Amino acid sequence: MLSINTEDRSYTLIGRNKVSPDMFGVVLFIVALGSSHASCIFDCKDEDHFSVTDYGAKSDGQTDDSQAFLETWDAACTAPIPSSRFIVPPNKTYLLNPIIFQGPCQPTTIYFIISGRIIGPELPSEWNGKDASGWLGFKDVNGLNVDGFGTVDGRGQGWWDQSCRYHPQLKQCTTLAPTALKFMECNDSSVSNLKLVNSAQTHLLLRGCDSFVVNNVVIESPANSPNTDGIHIHSSHNVIITNSKFSTGDDCISIGDRISNIKIYNVVCGPGHGISIGSLGRRGNYVQVEKIHVSDAFFKGTTNGARIKTWQVGRGYVRDVTFENLMFDSVQNPIIIDQNYCDVRNACKEEETGVEISNVRYKEIYGTSSGDIAVNLNCSYSVPCYEILMESIELVSTTPGEDVIADCANAYGQEFDVSPASCLLN
Ligand SMILES: *[C@@H]1O[C@H](CO)[C@@H](O)[C@H](O)[C@H]1NC(C)=O
Ligand SMILES: *[C@@H]1O[C@H](CO)[C@@H](O)[C@H](O)[C@H]1NC(C)=O
Ligand SMILES: *[C@@H]1O[C@H](CO)[C@@H](O)[C@H](O)[C@H]1NC(C)=O
Repeated sequence: MLSINTEDRSYTLIGRNKVSPDMFGVVLFIVALGSSHASCIFDCKDEDHFSVTDYGAKSDGQTDDSQAFLETWDAACTAPIPSSRFIVPPNKTYLLNPIIFQGPCQPTTIYFIISGRIIGPELPSEWNGKDASGWLGFKDVNGLNVDGFGTVDGRGQGWWDQSCRYHPQLKQCTTLAPTALKFMECNDSSVSNLKLVNSAQTHLLLRGCDSFVVNNVVIESPANSPNTDGIHIHSSHNVIITNSKFSTGDDCISIGDRISNIKIYNVVCGPGHGISIGSLGRRGNYVQVEKIHVSDAFFKGTTNGARIKTWQVGRGYVRDVTFENLMFDSVQNPIIIDQNYCDVRNACKEEETGVEISNVRYKEIYGTSSGDIAVNLNCSYSVPCYEILMESIELVSTTPGEDVIADCANAYGQEFDVSPASCLLN
């Protein structure tokens, strides 16, 4: 199996019903490839190795190494061989400006081994005209495996200091800040054994990817950093996120539109805003989100746990969602559906439309709630939630002796062994 760095990657696995690791067959595929290169990451000088050092990276943390990285990429991506390795050697720091590693590539498999530390520009001004939505991107690359136990540090403080979210009084405040690592239209790919810290905004984003595994990553940003989602996925299918730990200023994992078949298991979240499906349907679009399975997750001190949020103006569906084997430690809204989501409280009027939420299962969920409403199913009057199943749930207040409640509106389904007793309509 893949090795797990026990130094700072260790965390408690709380699940009882472990999910089998061969979902979609993708994990086994990656594991097999992973073990074959384990003995030959730095020492061997094969022709399939492309080290940024050989292409002139200064690795002093001061000089911009972007050009060296791009030249290395060009060589690794165009080499007429079945598999190539892009190497970022250990114990060095590489300063990179915003760049995109563009495919498609000749090799059907590319290992992108980050062992050192990659840092972003210190100041937002370095973007100076460049697309502020991203820092490092991979586009149109299949069979890409980013690995290596290194660190990617977005050094987002400069962006946080000017974010409109927390500094609306600043005349030049910004709402868009760079995502640290973007995968766009990358299929059969993975990110493993990486640490991502202090992104200016979202840390890791998947867009338009099919068959993607995120395994054993650590994502860390301060609790008060604005919009620093851990992972955001949209327009993607067959994605696994596992064995990972998130502490962020926003959602640990957020799931956007055009999604199917997402498995998230063995993850730890906190601080952060929880694991969120949504917000969806903001522009009145037809939402298509289905087959999401979240299990064996531990939430500590987060604002939300298992959350689904949709805008009333949206249409379409969120269906076949399972949350099971979750543990909460002092979470404000452990279980929440907000089908009346609005970024300003009560500023959105009641609509005839809504994103239909159905077949959502909550099973084996335990722990403490720091808010009064441990279960909040706030569904729309026009388009209620259907087929909600709640089974084996016990949530109590963080404050001993205090009660927590379940509050439902327009939510239909069944419950077995649920405390606080839920309020589903049959
Ligand atoms: C990197 O640093 C570690 C710890 O100082 C050391 O054990 C290791 O040999 C170094 N690796 C290389 C390739 O220099
Ligand atoms: C990955 O798959 C998507 C959806 O099937 C496709 O649009 C995209 O072009 C593929 N990417 C590559 C690099 O082949
Ligand atoms: C449900 O949503 C409505 C509309 O946003 C809001 O006014 C109400 O407070 C919510 N109820 C609960 C229990 O959160």
